[in-house]
Amino acid sequence: MAVTMVLDHPLVQHKVAILRDEKTGTKAFKELVKELAMLITYEASRDLALREVQVKTPIAMADCKMLAGKKMAIVPILRAGLGMVEGVQSMIPAAKVGHIGLYRDPETLLPVEYYCKMPADIQERDVFVVDPMLATGGSASDAIKLIKERGAVNIKFLGIIAAPEGIEKLHRDHPDVDIYVAALDEKLNDHGYIVPGLGDAGDRIFGTK
Ligand code: PRP
Ligand code: URA
Repeated sequence: MAVTMVLDHPLVQHKVAILRDEKTGTKAFKELVKELAMLITYEASRDLALREVQVKTPIAMADCKMLAGKKMAIVPILRAGLGMVEGVQSMIPAAKVGHIGLYRDPETLLPVEYYCKMPADIQERDVFVVDPMLATGGSASDAIKLIKERGAVNIKFLGIIAAPEGIEKLHRDHPDVDIYVAALDEKLNDHGYIVPGLGDAGDRIFGTK
């Protein structure tokens, strides 16, 4: 069974508080999403394989460890997931980036797919699916289904704020996918927005409202 990790680090909690604030403008919001993505990546990459290396310091030889070089992919769910890519990539520069375009139909709240472009060798890569919001879980679940259909097997979801409904759906649909988020909120409202949440993540990142 997959795990859900809610990061309780003080830096994470501090940044989430500013992110939620309706007075936080687009520039600061984007920067915070990037920084949170870096911190969440730190936790989600804890089990990456290492290899032993010897490094010559100016003083002596040192026994060190470096990443074993497992291929990685970052897959943002458009639009809002784009805001997390730079942060994840700054931690894992060799990762390739795939894109999945999904939007929630405002009436049914069901995800509608409009774009999917993955690295050609996605089946060989460990995948971080990124999206700041896990609300009903429909978008993340569909995105992961599409990625699995292309052969990827080792997938994690990295988000910023989740609702209990989204966590439950993702675990039900994809019991093999670990979830890493910065906050687990109370519930969804009648429009499928996370309460208290932060509003519409895409609009706040791209200034479209
Ligand atoms: C938001 C968000 C997620 C989705 C979460 O995207 O970025 O992708 O909603 O909701 P769910 O868990 O109920 O599926 P939205 O549909 O608003 O599209 P956008 O990013 O293009 O604004
Ligand atoms: N998508 C968002 O951007 N915000 C929510 O609260 C729910 C879905």
